[in-house]
Parts: sequence; structure tokens; C-alpha cells
Amino acid sequence: MIYYKKDTDNIVTLTLDMKGRPMNVINHEIFEAFVPVVEQLKADKKRGTLRGVILTSGKKTFLAGGDLEYLYQTHDPAEVFAFCEKMKKFLRELESPGVAVVAALNGSAIGTGFEVALACHHRIAVNDKRTVLGLPEVELGLIPGGGGIVRLMWLLGIEKAFHILSSGQRYSPREALQAGIIDDLAPNQKEMLEMAKDWLLSNKESRRPWDQTGQSIPGGSAKEATAAEYVRAEAARLAAKTHHNYPAPQAILNVLSEGSKVDFDTAERIESRYYTQLVMSKQCKNMIKAFWFDSNYIKHGLNRPKGFGKFRPKKVGIIGAGGLMGSGIAYACLQNGLDVVMKDVSKLIAERGRDYVRNKLHPLIQSGEMTKAEGDKMMHRIVTTEDPREFETCDLVIEAVFENAMVKQKVTKEAEVFMDEYSFMASNTVSIPITKLAEVSMRPDNYVGLHFFHPADEVPLVEIVRGARTSEETVARAFDFVKAIQKTPIIVKDDWGFYAARVQNTYILEGITMLKEGYPPALIENLGRQAGMPKGALAMADDLGLNLVFNYESQAGEHYGPKYIPHPAVEALDKMLQELQRPGRHKKAGFYTYAEDGQRQLWPELSTHFGPQLSNFDRQELIDRLLISQVLEAVWCMQEGVINSIAAANLGSIYGWGFPSFKGGTIQYIADYGVEAFIARCKDLRGKYGSRFRIPKRLEELVKDSELVGDLVGMV
Ligand code: NAI
Repeated sequence: MIYYKKDTDNIVTLTLDMKGRPMNVINHEIFEAFVPVVEQLKADKKRGTLRGVILTSGKKTFLAGGDLEYLYQTHDPAEVFAFCEKMKKFLRELESPGVAVVAALNGSAIGTGFEVALACHHRIAVNDKRTVLGLPEVELGLIPGGGGIVRLMWLLGIEKAFHILSSGQRYSPREALQAGIIDDLAPNQKEMLEMAKDWLLSNKESRRPWDQTGQSIPGGSAKEATAAEYVRAEAARLAAKTHHNYPAPQAILNVLSEGSKVDFDTAERIESRYYTQLVMSKQCKNMIKAFWFDSNYIKHGLNRPKGFGKFRPKKVGIIGAGGLMGSGIAYACLQNGLDVVMKDVSKLIAERGRDYVRNKLHPLIQSGEMTKAEGDKMMHRIVTTEDPREFETCDLVIEAVFENAMVKQKVTKEAEVFMDEYSFMASNTVSIPITKLAEVSMRPDNYVGLHFFHPADEVPLVEIVRGARTSEETVARAFDFVKAIQKTPIIVKDDWGFYAARVQNTYILEGITMLKEGYPPALIENLGRQAGMPKGALAMADDLGLNLVFNYESQAGEHYGPKYIPHPAVEALDKMLQELQRPGRHKKAGFYTYAEDGQRQLWPELSTHFGPQLSNFDRQELIDRLLISQVLEAVWCMQEGVINSIAAANLGSIYGWGFPSFKGGTIQYIADYGVEAFIARCKDLRGKYGSRFRIPKRLEELVKDSELVGDLVGMV
């Protein structure tokens, strides 16, 4: 598992190569394996036959992160704390026997894997773009627990360490060097090992700064005024940004602040305590559930139609590529190695898409993240045109033209003439049924919805809309395409708003209902953000356009027919649209007013038009209404087959419209609340506010289904 090889210069190379695993991981097994190795190193040192150590890996990656399955399941703080301390003891032994250790990073090292590298005296990485380095634990509601925070603070100072740790950024080797988390880059593995050896031969110092007297943290400790002021200001910024919903970044700040005032070992113990607290927290379990378990469920294709070979797209046609969505979709394809044909009404307009890509690449080339040659190569993979003939060689064509059925159908017909029968056609519509658009298609079984979100090159979600005649094979191909551009595919039914817009609409409608009830608009917006939503409900309505909000609800009415009970918000929406003529942001008049520079302010006359002001309010009840309305709609979507898995519902909600990730997504929210408490709360809300809070049958089934109960009550 750990191969020990000493050369004639008394330099030992330790190669980690865990048997029967595709990658090295940090677990009890590896600790046990290290015990005799460290003893051997100590004995060598005593005999004077050890000059230095190189730690590297026999796998493609250096060392993976912690065991998330264990962290999700465990409810034993004493055990977590003990494990954390054991890992720290092991890393202290690695860095302090008086011999310098170089981490030779032949591949990725993230999370705990990178903490091991930080415990080495020097870090060199092979400059390979596929390598990912860093400490992204915060994305899972966690913090490093192997001394990573304390070491980074001692190496870079409180401010830089906080920036790196709280952003959760993953670095390429070149970026890691710029950020100061590694010390050198090597062109290949062989030269990396030579550089490691050279460094060991020319550096006798083997004590870390924190083990030397007279050394201090760069920029000072939080005992000193400058750093203390920084910590205070950062705490305020964090509170304003996260509304105390995400404890991990605050814990990082606390470890840095408290840990900077004490000796290294005490600081490490402080880190272990915060780490343990977070592992036990609901927020962390929810985030591991969403970003690890749910994400893997989707990545492994458990929702993808079975029995079809993997589709490997090479060339994508985009109609409307000069527009907002088309250019973003094109860039997402290019970034992932696909060629694109950008078509628009004229070649000149299609060129706008090329300009979009050029503008995206410019800063990357400036910062050195991409070479000019790489940028040019990507630009050469673009063809701009007004001629649908260019689609002959495309594996799929996506239309992102105006939201107008006739225009969409026209471009579909034009394109299909030239597309071969193995390719498929996709629409990026938000509100026109795919089944309707497919009516004009020559091959309706090869026609599907691919609903990207704005900005298309950034939002990691794509809804795959299965029309009435879409074949399973086309759905499978669409799924593979979305994965090929590294986005999360969720398969949805061709109903109004699909999944994301339909559920998001319930948040907006609940906010508008509160306005109608007389709650101050600023309160509604603030509580929305405090609940963890990215924007207030009224701001979201303005951005979407009140017509579309209204339209979705009308489509719901048509769908349910006589069973439909109008949402109380409809009346207020109608008033905004008809009487007050305020349709939203695009007309610079909605619930907000808009300055020339786009800055917005709540429309001062809102309170005049919507009821008496209520000054008494139950904060928790309003927050519950804003979130539970969405959760129930998500359950309705599961009941009606709009969406088919808990994983898709959770991730779709987080990525699609920003449902709070510390709650783990719409369905995990029920587990977070506690199933029984959730049901009781819905009954209470139903009594007070009406039938939109009634509980769909599917919820009972979700709870009854033993497998899902595990998901739902995992951490309650
Ligand atoms: P846009 O107006 O920015 O772009 C539309 C593009 O289509 C323009 O470049 C236009 O010249 C081109 N076009 C129009 N007719 C054409 C034709 N016959 N042949 C070739 N090109 C033609 O619109 P946007 O916002 O990019 O929306 C496009 C589609 O994406 C719409 O269906 C919209 O509903 C949908 N969508 C929009 C989102 C958004 O946030 N803007 C989010 C998700 C989907």
C-alpha cells in the first residue's frame, strides 16, 4: 500500500498505492499502514541515513478527500472528533520527525487529500489541466478537519486563507501556484520527482514555521488590531450574505480568529471541534445529500432510459446563436470540446455569438488560465452562418429563437431538411409545449426539449422535456449530451413550466399573496432572502415578467379544469398587469422601479394599491409559507410524474431557481423539517390559508417507501 524506496542520496520515495481501489483515500487503513513507515523514517533519521522524503502516488490522482458516506451517516460526535484528532496526529508525525517531506502531486488532491500535501514541507504539482487541487469542503457545509485551516493560515495569513477556504475554489496547478497553495510546477512526472529531489538536497530546513520560535502568521494574529478588524468586518459581510444559514464559512472564520491567538496544536484542536460540530449539523448532511448522493444518482444515469448505447456528440448546431441563450449554449458546448455551428437570421447576427465567446475567452487568456493558442483553437471550432445546410454534419441542433411557436416551428422545418435521421432536434422553449412544437417535425420521435437556464454557460442544470412523441432513445441521447457539456440533466414532463418554472412560480405567487394580505413589500423581500432564496419573490416576478408568471398560473388552470382553485395571488397579478400596467423589469416598471443604470427600488406606491399595512407578523410562519409552498408543489410534480426522482427534484430546485442548498433541495426540506412536523405544519397552514397547502398523496408514499424513508429521515 505504501512503497518505500531509498536512493543513494538517502532520499526516500513513499508511493501511495492502495490495493483494490481506483484511487487513494484517507481512512483507518492508510493510517495503520503509515505507522511502521514513520517508525522506519525515524530510525533512518537517528542513524543519519535519511536526507529527505518524497511523498507521491501510484494512482492517476494523488489522494482523494474524506469518506462522505461515513460523514453523512454518522451521529457520533465523539467518534468524529477522535478520528479528526487521529488524522492530525498522523500528519504531525509526517511533518515533524526532523526530515523534510515534499508532496509530489502527480494528480488531483482535494479536501483531505490536499491537507496531506499541506502537511508536507514543499509542494510540487505536474502542470496538467486535468489536475484539481484545493479545499472545497465549504461547498458541502464542511470545513477541512486535518489541520488544513491552521496550516493555510500560517502559510498565507488570515485574509488569504479565509478567501481560499470560504470560496471553496478548485484550482488548476497553475492557479494553485498563483494562489500560493503549492510551491512549484513541473512539466511531467519524471521532472517533478527530480525537482523534488533537488529541493531536498538543497534545503536542510525541515521545521515548519509554526514549529520554529520567533515565527509569526503573515499579516499577524487576530490579537492584533489589523487582523482583528478584518475578522470583524468579514463576520458582518458573511452575516449579510448568508443570513446565518450557512455555518461553515463562519466556522472557518472562527477557527482562523481563535486559532491565530494560540499555539499550533491548540489551534488544531479548535479546528477539530468546529469540524465535529459541522459534521453533526443538518446543513452539512443536507448539502452532502444534494451535492454528493443526489448528484451521483444523476451522474450514474439512474434516471436515463435504459438499453441505449452511449451517445457521443461532436458537433452541435444552434439556431438563434446570436441571442442571449444561444450564445451561452454555444460557449458551454465549446468549453467541453464540441464543435458548434452558429446560425441566426443573418451571418452578421450569428457573429454576435462568436463575439460572446471571444469576450469570455479574453480574461482567461489575460490571466494566463488559457494560452492564446488554446483560445484560437476554440474559436476555430465555430462556424457562423445563416444557411441551415451547415446542419448536415451536426449530431443535434438546438433552437433558441424568440419564444414564438410559429418562428420555432419554421426554423425546425428548415433545419430538419438537412439533418440526418440519427441526429435530433431540441427546443429551448420555456413555455410552449414540446408536443405542440413537434407537430411540424419530420421526425417527432427525434424532437425533445432542452431547457437551459440563463446564463446558459453558468447554470449547471438542463431540463430534458419529453414530448408526447419523443422516443426513449432521444431522451437518452439528450441526457448524454447534457452530461457531455458537464451539466446536470433532469428529465421532466411536457406540462406547463416543466419542473423548475412551475415550482418557482409558487414562491412568487406566495410572495404576491402576502403583498395582497397587506404585508410590507420590503418585509416580503427580506424574509425571502433570509429564508435562503437568492432574491425576494417580488424581484423574481419582475425578472421573469409578470405576464409569464400569470401565464403559468393560467396554464395550471387549464390543466386542472373544473378542479382548479384560483391562487389568491392572481387577482393582484391581474391588477398589476391590467390596471397598473406594470409588467416587470423589461418595461422598467413592476413591483420595483428601475433607474437608467438598472438599479431597482421597490415601487413606493405598492402600499397604496395593496391593502392596509400589517405591522404584526409571525416571521417563521411567513418563511415557512414561502418555502413550503414550493416543497408541496415539488411533491405534486412527483405525484403527477413531472419529475421522477427525489435526486432530480432536489438538485433541480437548487440549480434551477436557487432553492436553499442548506436545506438540501425541495424534497430533502421535508427531512430537515422532520416528516411529522412538516405534515402538522401543512395542516396548520391549510387551515389558515387554504387548499394550496394540502398534502399530496405522494408524500405519504414517499414516507412509506422504505428506501425513501431512509433519504427523508436520514438526519432527523
Ligand atoms: P434573444 O432575443 O436574445 O435571442 C433570440 C435569437 O434568435 C436572436 O439572435 C434572433 O436574431 C434569433 N432568431 C429569431 N428568428 C430566427 C430565425 N428565423 N432564424 C434564426 N435565428 C432567429 O432571446 P433569448 O432570451 O436568448 O431566448 C431564446 C429562447 O430561449 C426563447 O425560447 C426563450 O424563451 C428561451 N429561454 C430564455 C431564457 C432567458 O432567461 N432569456 C431562459 C431559458 C430559455
